[in-house]
Parts: sequence; structure tokens; C-alpha cells
Amino acid sequence: MIRAPPTPAKLYVPTIVRKNSLPSITCVMHVQVIDRRGIQESDARAIAELLCTVWPRPGCTVETRIAEMLVAWRDYRGPEVQFPRSLIVRSDRRAVAHAEISPRMIGTSIGKVTIGALAGVCTHPDARGRGLGVRLVREAFRLVDNGTYPFSLFQNYADNQPFYEKLGARAIDNRIVNSIGVDPQKCPFWADVAMVYPAGKRWPSGEIDLCGPGY
Ligand SMILES: CC(C)(COP(=O)(O)OP(=O)(O)OC[C@H]1O[C@@H](n2cnc3c(N)ncnc32)[C@H](O)[C@@H]1OP(=O)(O)O)[C@@H](O)C(=O)NCCC(=O)NCCS
Repeated sequence: MIRAPPTPAKLYVPTIVRKNSLPSITCVMHVQVIDRRGIQESDARAIAELLCTVWPRPGCTVETRIAEMLVAWRDYRGPEVQFPRSLIVRSDRRAVAHAEISPRMIGTSIGKVTIGALAGVCTHPDARGRGLGVRLVREAFRLVDNGTYPFSLFQNYADNQPFYEKLGARAIDNRIVNSIGVDPQKCPFWADVAMVYPAGKRWPSGEIDLCGPGY
């Protein structure tokens, strides 16, 4: 059966951001949930501009990122509750903070598990230190707290480990592979640390197969 394209979901969760001396960012902000299956170009542009500011890479432009985002999840056919989403905070029309959480089926010693793959967590350099990063990662982890996903699994650099530990995540030392990669034994994550949320729940020991590239 061919499904009609999904209507983009936009939910607005109000949050008060604590005041500090940065003049360009307003004090009352909202977390906007963008359904990545039907993302509109204007939303993709706002996210792409932020990602290119935080992670400039040769050959990776706002336009190439938009093009990728517009097609990436169009054919998602998994459970509705696990729909892939971007969480953003805007200042005027600009996205100033972003986190993405999307479903990824991985292989573990206890079988296949669909985890919430957290990626693209960033705050615009001019808006850091105002609680936006914490706000968005908490919102993403809420999908684990409410049972949408059993875990969130993600990579990050060691410098940021305390940031995620404060939010209830912990580093893991499982060997991580991608059985369908060119080199199936090579770890598909490129950052220093792999982490899971929640820290307290029993995470499978042994090899983790991302069954795809790192994110
Ligand atoms: C990491 C990042 C998202 C944090 O965003 P932010 O909006 O500045 O974070 P917050 O203002 O919500 O920080 C809240 C708390 O975390 C702390 N924190 C922020 N970054 C931290 C870090 N790298 N290590 C430890 N603590 C950190 C803050 O000091 C603050 O603590 P406090 O409330 O006790 O004062 C932001 O620095 C960023 O975009 N970095 C570049 C991209 C990146 O590395 N992303 C993570 C990829 S895994």
C-alpha cells in the first residue's frame, strides 16, 4: 500500500531560558519538534545553516545538507511513535540549537533492538551557556523515559562527556561495528566516546552492530 506523505508535525513546548548578558537572543523560547519525514525546505534551511556554522566541512554546504534532509526519511515505514525528528530552538527565524533523534535498529547480544539515535546536538556559538543544549537533549531523552525507545545510543567527544553524564547518560565500552560497511570490523563511530541513556538500565554486553554507518 502506498502511504500518503506525512504532514509535518510541529509541536511547541514552551520553555523559559534563563537570562544572561547575551543581547541577541530573546528570553522566552520554544522547543519545536520537526517531523523529519516531511520536513519543509524552510525548516531544513534553518537547521542546515546552524549545522554548517557549528561543523563547517569542505564540500558540505547549506544546499547539500538541505538536499540530504529533504529525502532522508521520506520512505520511513517504521512505528509511528518512533518517527524521526529534529528538535530546535529558534531566535526569530534562525535555529540556534538543534538535536536529532531517530530510530535505528541495531544488533546486540540480546537480539535486534531499535534505539533512539541521537545526533547533531549543537547550540550556535552566540547562544551557548543558556541551557538550550540541556533543554533539547532532555527533550530527546524523554522519548526513552516514556518508552518510545528502550535506549538512546550516540557518540561524542570526551570533552562533552560530563555534559551528557549530568543528563543521566554513561559511556560504554562495547565493540561497535557495521556489518554492512566496506570494512565490517571498523567502528563506524568517529568520535572518542560511545554513550547510552539511561545510565541505570541494563545495557547489553558484547558487540554492537550499528547495521549501517555511524551518525
Ligand atoms: C555541547 C553544546 C551542545 C552545549 O550546548 P549549550 O547550549 O551551551 O549547553 P547548556 O547551556 O545547556 O549547558 C548546560 C550545562 O552544561 C554544561 N556544559 C556545556 N557544555 C559542556 C561540556 N562540553 N562539558 C561539560 N559541561 C558542559 C554547562 O556548563 C552548563 O552547566 P551548568 O548548568 O551547571 O552551568 C555546545 O557547546 C555545542 O554546540 N558544542 C559544539 C558542538 C558539539 O560538540 N556538540 C556535541 C556533539 S556530541
